[in-house]
Amino acid sequence: MTEDWTTRARQLADQLTADGVLHDQRWHRALTAVPRHRLAPRIYQQTGTAWQLIDGDDPAQREQWLAAVYANTGLVTALAEENGQQVTRSSTTTPSLMIRMLEALDLDGGHRVLEIGTGTGYNAALLAHALGAANVYSVDVDRDLVDLARDRLAALGIRPTLLTADGAAGLPEHGPYDRIIATCALPTVPWSWAGQLHVGGIALVDVKPLVNAGNLVRLHRKPDRLEGRFLPKWATFMPMRSAQFPLDAAAAGYDHRVGRLSATSLPASPFDNLVAWFLAHFHLPAGIWSGLRLDQGTGEPVAHFLTATDGSWYDVELAAEDGYRKVRQGGAQQLWSHLETALLSWRELGRPGWERFGMTVTPDATWIWLDHPAHRIGELSHR
Ligand SMILES: C[S@@+](CC[C@H](N)C(=O)[O-])C[C@H]1O[C@@H](n2cnc3c(N)ncnc32)[C@H](O)[C@@H]1O
Repeated sequence: MTEDWTTRARQLADQLTADGVLHDQRWHRALTAVPRHRLAPRIYQQTGTAWQLIDGDDPAQREQWLAAVYANTGLVTALAEENGQQVTRSSTTTPSLMIRMLEALDLDGGHRVLEIGTGTGYNAALLAHALGAANVYSVDVDRDLVDLARDRLAALGIRPTLLTADGAAGLPEHGPYDRIIATCALPTVPWSWAGQLHVGGIALVDVKPLVNAGNLVRLHRKPDRLEGRFLPKWATFMPMRSAQFPLDAAAAGYDHRVGRLSATSLPASPFDNLVAWFLAHFHLPAGIWSGLRLDQGTGEPVAHFLTATDGSWYDVELAAEDGYRKVRQGGAQQLWSHLETALLSWRELGRPGWERFGMTVTPDATWIWLDHPAHRIGELSHR
């Protein structure tokens, strides 16, 4: 077994190096040394809407499990029941994304790091390998996950400080830190985190004020603010579960036959251009929900829709005729028109990528900017 997993772990580290993701040998050594399979002994894989448990202890499933654990893929490790459906409660991140984030943290030997979102404890173990466990703190809102991660890490002789806590508040009792890394998505960055970072420190956070609208941002702690740019490549994490950031949107009903009709040559999915979607979100009303409308007869997706709690909606057919799709909109706000306007502004701004956008967090305001903090694009609601 030892031979088996170490070869696989090294192959994964070599692959990430060859792919141009891994540059720092510390992370090659950490990936090779930490047995990911011991932290994810059972995983879930999805076929259609059904989840299958893949148990490493089952000889019939062992090869499938081990291949998945040492592949460059995220692993779903815990499910929960919500509205009669099974949803992901925890997962361990795709290794290439983890390495990208760890390298973006620009860590030095003596740095103390706080991770928000312990999950399996794998990222905490990589950090502990590079920095020493005494320098690593990690919190998760889910007590069961923290207890499991603590036990599994201890069995490997790795003992970072793992605590059950709502990471929205950080972990002030052990601060200040040199780095904060969030492995769940937040709609904004709480100002309280700034007080837990040394001046010169870095917070790396997936900021997503709305589903898919946002990206990883690397914020530098300055005396009076957190400020920095988004990373060039888009990534996404599961949203933080916190009373501070309630996830209150729900699909609202609409009748797609009665809205105002127009046509578009744009793609039906708002996620086709994620930067434009991010720009659009500043103009959208509260409680946005997006989804696919299914044909009532065949059950096949036929349109992309957006609804808002004020009753506004749009519905864009997936099928195009002569390059044009039918759009219907209803309610007080023309949601599709907001998307079109955002796409036009993005083109007028010179089609900027994520790296041209940045974020500033102060005690009084949080805003997104283009190229320079003075060129404000929009405010994020302040908490
Ligand atoms: C993608 S997983 C983290 C993966 C983890 N870093 C690893 O290496 O396995 C996201 C985690 O964020 C946790 N989470 C959600 N809301 C949280 C909150 N308010 N505070 C801390 N953790 C939270 C979830 O329970 C979940 O385990």
